Amino acid sequence: MKFQNVDSMLEEIKEAVITDDASLEQFRIAYLGTKNKIKPLFSEMRNIDNEHKKAYGQALNSLKQVAEGMYTEHKDKISQAENNSAAQEIDLSAPVPHDLVGSRHPVSIIMNRMIDVFTRIGFEVAEEREIEEDWYNFTAMNTPDDHPARDMQDTFYLKGSLQQLLRTHTSSVQARVMTTQKPPIRIIAPGRVYRNETISARSHCQFHQVEGLYVDENVSFADMKQTLLYFAKAIYGSETKIRLRPSYFPFTEPSAEMDVWLGTETDQAKKLTKGTGWLEVLGCGMVDPQVLENCGIDSEKYTGYAFGIGIERSAMQTFDISDIRYLFENDVRFLSQFKSAQFT
Ligand code: PHE
Repeated sequence: MKFQNVDSMLEEIKEAVITDDASLEQFRIAYLGTKNKIKPLFSEMRNIDNEHKKAYGQALNSLKQVAEGMYTEHKDKISQAENNSAAQEIDLSAPVPHDLVGSRHPVSIIMNRMIDVFTRIGFEVAEEREIEEDWYNFTAMNTPDDHPARDMQDTFYLKGSLQQLLRTHTSSVQARVMTTQKPPIRIIAPGRVYRNETISARSHCQFHQVEGLYVDENVSFADMKQTLLYFAKAIYGSETKIRLRPSYFPFTEPSAEMDVWLGTETDQAKKLTKGTGWLEVLGCGMVDPQVLENCGIDSEKYTGYAFGIGIERSAMQTFDISDIRYLFENDVRFLSQFKSAQFT
């Protein structure tokens, strides 16, 4: 005996799509809930001939069973799938992840060491702008208009202005400080500088310097030499020797470059010093009296010394980094190598 309404309901139930908790619940409400769609079929019973009532009742009951069967079957499937995906998220055999502790940039590590060395003997940190006015970067620092460093080749000027530029050295901070503070002045200025140079393994258009400036009564070249020797020993070891070679900077007179003795014993020292044993570390000199005057400081009363240390070369040497570009690419694979308590 066939019952059209029961058959089409059976069809409907079998075709139900159950994929997740929500569709499972919809199915339950539709076919098993208190107001389910099978119930009205039971009320049809009174319209069925007596001789078919039994068969109709059985057909309805098996319809109910199909719905119940489908419900439990899908319920199990869904909860199993959920368990599986939860198990994938938590893989108990996976190695414990490393602590997500950041690391300092090698340039910061070296810069912080230098700051530490100088603040210990009374230097204060002065920080200034990277976008600088021509006057502080060049004019105040005694760099005449026709000096090659002013050439567009070397300096990044701001669009439409030859008065504003990206500072080419931290010496601009000397002028900033001397025009706003009275001696005694004893500062170091760590920071980033820019030069319009072709980028290669050895040079970059941006790098870092630590500037030093000491202005007071009776500051002498010997004071500078002693301070720089202290610095060299603190950074390169207590046995370190230094030498000062005469040099030229527009803003110091006399001027010198300082080398430290690395020796020629190791291959690395030989390579770094090009076989001479001496590594060039910084430029320095007595502040030119004209610079003091440019900044409003009486050059009859005061003298001073200044120095500028390049950071990148030191960082590359300390960490055996072969290409300066690594320092500016911010590749995490490179940077995360400096994760250690000793690098602070
Ligand atoms: N400003 C110089 C440079 O960038 C370094 C320097 C600083 C030299 C202070 C003397 C005194 O090369």
